[in-house]
Amino acid sequence: MREIVKGRLTILADNIVLGRTESLGEHGFSVYLETDGGAYLFDTGKGKTIVHNAAVYRKNLATLRKIILSHGHEDHTGGLPEVLLFHNQINVLGHPDVFLHRFRKDENGREKYGGIPYARGYLEKIGARFVFNKDHVDIERGIYLTGEVSRETNFEAGDLSNRYGIRDGRIVPETVADDQSLIIQTERGILIIMGCAHSGIINMINHAIKMTGVDSIFGIIGGTHLGFSGDVQLKKTIQALKNYRIEHLIPCHCTGIAAAVRLSREFQKIFHFPHVGMGLEF
Ligand SMILES: [Fe+2]
Ligand SMILES: [Fe+2]
Repeated sequence: MREIVKGRLTILADNIVLGRTESLGEHGFSVYLETDGGAYLFDTGKGKTIVHNAAVYRKNLATLRKIILSHGHEDHTGGLPEVLLFHNQINVLGHPDVFLHRFRKDENGREKYGGIPYARGYLEKIGARFVFNKDHVDIERGIYLTGEVSRETNFEAGDLSNRYGIRDGRIVPETVADDQSLIIQTERGILIIMGCAHSGIINMINHAIKMTGVDSIFGIIGGTHLGFSGDVQLKKTIQALKNYRIEHLIPCHCTGIAAAVRLSREFQKIFHFPHVGMGLEF
């Protein structure tokens, strides 16, 4: 029998704030998850807003059972030390490449570091207990972390041309293979919480359906990277998204305003404009 999870998620870090609010925006992403089994944090934003926004929306960072990192980019991991302050020790789940030295090159060929901004030893000293996975793992009954997502569509190339990593002392192209999503089994289908979906949102959805055997999608929320992936990918992604049964589409963070507006027009009935503090019950 499937384990159904009930709960609520709240966006704690995102690029957008809306309305008369005390909350702060930044280029980053974080979701606070409350379930019958406890509270979890998926990503930590870039670091400037997580604690402030958690206070604004009364989300207790001290009661977290686990912290999950979608991938090692600084805009998802930068707030980790701030959150660790609330704990003596806590498990932090992620792919081993979370600690990959990764960078892009600017127009003058200068390196711009984009990986996790802290050394593993420092984070462990202040309370992180890292638990690494490459394949899918259960977080609790009905909540899974995808593991690496295979890239099967022919149009989700992403913006990988200018990304590099250092492996075994050599500079290699960087595909952000560490980028994982959280999958929750809800009463109304699966809920997919993405970091940046560097493997492509359609690859991510197909992976989640294959993993769970459930093809009705209650919700998709998180970064889609469509804002950086070009017009062809956006058009083909929109076409492909129409083939799924989706109740809530909430593209955040690296979707960017232009792609989000396009998606809002195409998916009027299911689209929600994301912002810090936005919640979703399941
Ligand atoms: Fe991101
Ligand atoms: Fe990213």
